[in-house]
Formats: sequence, C-alpha cells, structure tokens
Amino acid sequence: MLDLTYDYESCVKASERISWKVDDVLPVNAKLDFTRPFLPDQLAGTRGLATLGGAPFLDDHARLRLNQIGGNAYLNLFGFVEEYILATMMKHAQAEVFGDPMNLRALLRFTDEELKHQALFNRYRDAFERDFQHRCGVLKNAVEVAGVIMSHSPAAVLLITLHIELMTQQHYVECVKDAPMDPLFQSLLKHHWLEESQHARIDALELDKIARTLSSEKRDLAVDEYLGILDAFDGLLAEQAKLDIESLSTVLGRTFNEAEADAIRASQLAAYRKTFIWYGMTNPTFVSTTKKLSPSKAVTVAERALKFASSERPSQIPTARA
Ligand SMILES: [Fe+2]
Ligand SMILES: [Fe+2]
Repeated sequence: MLDLTYDYESCVKASERISWKVDDVLPVNAKLDFTRPFLPDQLAGTRGLATLGGAPFLDDHARLRLNQIGGNAYLNLFGFVEEYILATMMKHAQAEVFGDPMNLRALLRFTDEELKHQALFNRYRDAFERDFQHRCGVLKNAVEVAGVIMSHSPAAVLLITLHIELMTQQHYVECVKDAPMDPLFQSLLKHHWLEESQHARIDALELDKIARTLSSEKRDLAVDEYLGILDAFDGLLAEQAKLDIESLSTVLGRTFNEAEADAIRASQLAAYRKTFIWYGMTNPTFVSTTKKLSPSKAVTVAERALKFASSERPSQIPTARA
C-alpha cells in the first residue's frame, strides 16, 4: 500500500551500524555553553522581539536567554512525546512475539533506543537546571498526554508518530546541522536524528501493515483523528508559550506589561507551531504517505498546515516548503 523500499532487516542493520552510548554523547557533569543559543534561528521564537511598536524591546542578552528557555522546552516536549511512542511500540513488539523474529528485533531495538533517548534528554535537562541558575517552567503531564494519544486508533497513532519522527530528522538536517549553537546540544540532536531515521522507517512499515487491513473510510478516519491529536498538541504548545513568559521574567528580573507579554507569547507559540506541527505536516515523506492512505484527506492536511502557518506571526513561518 505504501510502496516502501526498505524492510525490517535493513532497519536492524542500520541501527546496529549507527548505535551510540549516552555517556559518549553527553558525559556526566558535561557543561553546556550558555554564551551560545540552544536553538537554531529557524526554530527559536526570538526573531522579531528586538523591537515592539517601533521601540527597543528585548536586547541580545534577553533574546539569548529566551532562546535557551525555548531549547529546554523543546527537549522537554520531545521527552513528552517519546513516552507515548515507547508505550506504543512496546505494544507493536508484543504483537510480534510469536510472529516474525526480524520484525520483533527491529521493534525491540526501537523501544530500547527511545528509552536511551529519554535518558539522554534527562541528562541534558539536569545539566541545564544545574547551570542555568533559574528553574524554567515546562509541561509535566506526559503520562496523561500519552493516554490521550493512545486512545486513538493504531493507524492514527502511527501517523502522528511518523510525523514526529520525520520532523525530528528535518530539524537536524535543515536547521541544526550548521547552526552556531551549544555544541553539546547540536551533538545530542545529531545522534538523536541518526536513530530517528530508522524509527521513521519502522513507523511506515507498521503503518503499511495496518493500513492494508483497513477500508478507505477507516483510513480517512485515521487522518481525521491525526488532525484532532494535532489540535490537542497545539493546546499544549500554547501552555508552554505562557510558561516561557514567566521563565523569562524570572531570569531577567523584570516584569512585562500586557502588550509585551502578548508579543512574547505569540512569538514563542508561532515558533513551537512551526517546529512541532508545520515541519511534520509538510514533510515530503509524510505528505506522500498521507496521499497514499487517503488522497482526499491529504488535501485537508495541506490546508490545515497552511492554517497553522498563518495563525500567528505569519512572517515567522514559511508558507511553502522549498
Ligand atoms: Fe527518540
Ligand atoms: Fe524515535
């Protein structure tokens, strides 16, 4: 159905070739470089905040701190989604216990790698908290969110998972690879990307397996459910954007009036939407997958991606992919 050019065996071989250890990527007590940004410009919400209404607003130092607050939230949001991905893939592995041993190996490596990613992210967040000198507000209800996502049909859950894992790769390749930023964070995202590229293939293989058993109506429904999950996720991004205002206020030791707070919130939300929603929805592999699953709903996905892109601060979000 999805005309895939790879199989579970090639994913296992690639996973063995690129495998890495947390201690090699981020040694215990490693020091992050707080003189540098933690997010590349394309993913940060700081552009456009140097001035507000024609007057100076956030200076270089303030925008650097907001970039670092956004970097910490970025990693926390990944930790969030990886919790449900791990739980989902454990279910898929369980279904293969008496099935194909190679499929099972691929799925077990996938789950082990996601656990390793969580350990890596936690180590980075510990280093951030230890040396940033201020505690930044981040979303906490990962288990609850995992439950909400996993209450949807397996095809819808695999679609959102494919979206996330393709988007992770794109962030690294298009934005992070050559950016002037904290070298440890850059290396962390590189190693994450290496393993996520196999995960996205396994998502597609599992989706292919399930989609073959579904009627076209059920495949349409799965895409609708996927869009519903994105709406819920968008609500979380809005909550994170509000938390960022408080964090920045604490870090800088200054308060913001309503217009200032609103400018920061809008800018952070637009950046999170671009990062977590727009990149996935418009990823070429994701677009071609949805077209094969449901040609009519693929049109809806493209329309919704444009809506997300134009909702706030449209100048910060590209309206078409090069
Ligand atoms: Fe991961
Ligand atoms: Fe993954």
